[in-house]
Amino acid sequence: MRIVITGGAGFIGSSLAKFHLERGDSVIAFDSLISGGKQSLATISEHPHFCLVEQDICRPTPELREAIASADRVYHMAAILGQHVVLRDPIGTLSQNIASCETVLRIMDEEKSKARLAIASSSAVYFGELFATEEALLTIPSGEWKQQPYRLSKIINEVMALSYVHEKGIFCVIPRLSNITGIGQNTPKGIIMPHWIKKAIKGEPLQVYGTGQQLRTFCNVRDIVQGLHLLLETDRANGEIVNLGSEEEISLIDLARKIKALCNSHSRIELIPYKQAYGIEYTEIMRARPNLAKLEKLTGFRPAVKLEETLKEMVDSYAL
Ligand SMILES: NC(=O)c1ccc[n+]([C@@H]2O[C@H](COP(=O)([O-])OP(=O)(O)OC[C@H]3O[C@@H](n4cnc5c(N)ncnc54)[C@H](O)[C@@H]3O)[C@@H](O)[C@H]2O)c1
Repeated sequence: MRIVITGGAGFIGSSLAKFHLERGDSVIAFDSLISGGKQSLATISEHPHFCLVEQDICRPTPELREAIASADRVYHMAAILGQHVVLRDPIGTLSQNIASCETVLRIMDEEKSKARLAIASSSAVYFGELFATEEALLTIPSGEWKQQPYRLSKIINEVMALSYVHEKGIFCVIPRLSNITGIGQNTPKGIIMPHWIKKAIKGEPLQVYGTGQQLRTFCNVRDIVQGLHLLLETDRANGEIVNLGSEEEISLIDLARKIKALCNSHSRIELIPYKQAYGIEYTEIMRARPNLAKLEKLTGFRPAVKLEETLKEMVDSYAL
């Protein structure tokens, strides 16, 4: 198969590229390298069936058109994300995340591409819904705009994608991804797992924002890649929004303790108020766990890698 991945130098995009190359597919990755880096592609950059095109995919270049026109699968993973990044650049987040998605959808339609497309959405759209199903009502708090650009860009992407499915007849699945982690994840501040593991290995303090009692789930990227692939293999997934993540919960304070223990570290754990961390009054989501019933019904698949296993493999890889 011919695979196109936008954001192909990013964490999930590069993992998808490796997965498909191992299956014998050919992969073209498009990435502006605004946050991803070529190091994530080091093991595949010389692969005869892999190619990286460095470009902003908000621009519908002939290369992007040609690649999407002849693709069998397109994964749209490019986005600006990460709480600190989004708070620093709300306008860029909104405009680029919306424009890049629209470019991909428009090319799909204009080139009459027969590709199956997955557009990465996020569980951030729920903003605090617990065990949310895909049909949950999405609310937008008036006036409280600072935490909304990333979330709103994903909601707009979802509506845009569904419109293209129903008005233009393209094939598109919209996975709502929820806290992904694993080997190869980059370490900007705010992406908890690799950041804390590196700090713990160096014996530096682990900063936990808020009380640390907030519950989170973390899904191994290997499960995500498998889930995305299966969704695109499933005819019935066309036009569907589907949660994809892990159901195994842990509080952030317990996660910090677990990482400390696995790294044999003497790091202190510090609780940092949100105002100090983000510079704004921050509304924290105290519990967020995806409901995976629809994923399992459509694909027969449920992410299975345990958090302990994910942590161990990450600690081993960063300790090298
Ligand atoms: N990682 C998670 O926990 C998580 C959770 C929910 C949703 N998602 C979504 O999954 C997708 C992939 O996330 P990730 O963790 O791999 O992020 P990432 O930051 O590692 O990768 C995103 C990539 O997109 C590229 N990019 C951004 N804007 C671009 C543009 N206009 N043109 C070309 N390239 C551009 C970046 O350079 C980067 O390499 C994103 O859409 C993200 O919103 C991720």
